Amino acid sequence: MKPRHFLSSLDWSSEELADLAVTALNYKAQGRGRLHEAPDLAGQVLGLLFFNPSVRTRVSCESAMARLGGSATALAAGTDTWRFEERDGVVMDGNTQEHVRELAPVLSGLCDAVGIRKAEMMSGGGSSEAAGASWEELSSDSFLNAFARHSEVPVINLESNAFHPCQGLADMATLRELLGEPRGEKYVLTWAWHPKALPVATPHSQLLAAADSGMRITLLRPEGYSLAPEVVEQARERAESAGGCLEESSDQEDAISGARIICAKSWGRLDAYGQPPERTRPADELRQDWIVNAEKMALTNAARFMHCLPIRRNVIATDEVLDSPSCAVALQATNRLWSAAAVLGRLLG
Ligand code: CP
Repeated sequence: MKPRHFLSSLDWSSEELADLAVTALNYKAQGRGRLHEAPDLAGQVLGLLFFNPSVRTRVSCESAMARLGGSATALAAGTDTWRFEERDGVVMDGNTQEHVRELAPVLSGLCDAVGIRKAEMMSGGGSSEAAGASWEELSSDSFLNAFARHSEVPVINLESNAFHPCQGLADMATLRELLGEPRGEKYVLTWAWHPKALPVATPHSQLLAAADSGMRITLLRPEGYSLAPEVVEQARERAESAGGCLEESSDQEDAISGARIICAKSWGRLDAYGQPPERTRPADELRQDWIVNAEKMALTNAARFMHCLPIRRNVIATDEVLDSPSCAVALQATNRLWSAAAVLGRLLG
């Protein structure tokens, strides 16, 4: 039987994800150390393959496995490993030494689940193979999906080009922790200026997290900075099925007024993928207006401020916001641990 993977929240129902978020908060309530009221993963090993840097994702996965009684082993792809190929039928006389058709079954034999982070920056240079590739080419997440097809164990997406479902699930748990019942509450995912064009995977999963939570969502961004239309449409459908709604706006004052959650994130234009850095950098004239500051937070209904981290202070949000009691970024980041434990317990328990 094919294993169940955690590649995108779109492969899981809103109800299943809400159940995982509740499980995550139940694990959190058990406190530090070994989780006893959880599946026992003693003897099970999680393999982690990182093509890009990480703090929260790597540590939360390793910590979650330890607390469930198992263990994790992490490899920096291309540094600790051979260079991998995912294309079928290719003559491997270039830079790559190992095909995913061998790699996936081998890691399936050595590990009980595999987590993979592989994402490109818009101008190339993420996992370094795809400079010049368009969003249409990258959004298929070819390595991750090829690995999952050939894997005999569950595969967890630790951030790809299209999605970051572990961040999304941690956000769902955080929304529930901050608001009790998030359904019907006003949530704003606001674009923020950043000196580089950042990928869209995280805001995609954050949008879906608010949608699966049944919130009244505003996707707030300058003209030309929407997310992938197919993801926005699926988020809209999921929000409506879960009792919420989704609108897009570039009117900051109107969108932020009365919000209970301000979640900030920067991302590049979809047509920036594959372009040189000087063509993809967000316009400087957006810098002044598209930062979360105390004046904007004052328009909200005592909103809590969220961001996935890492965050550039006084670029995405001011010190005043990040050092205020409304700031929930540390809580959100620690919920990565409990949501990773919920996913691992569900896939391996
Ligand atoms: N938010 C997040 O995924 O953090 P890292 O990139 O540090 O893992």
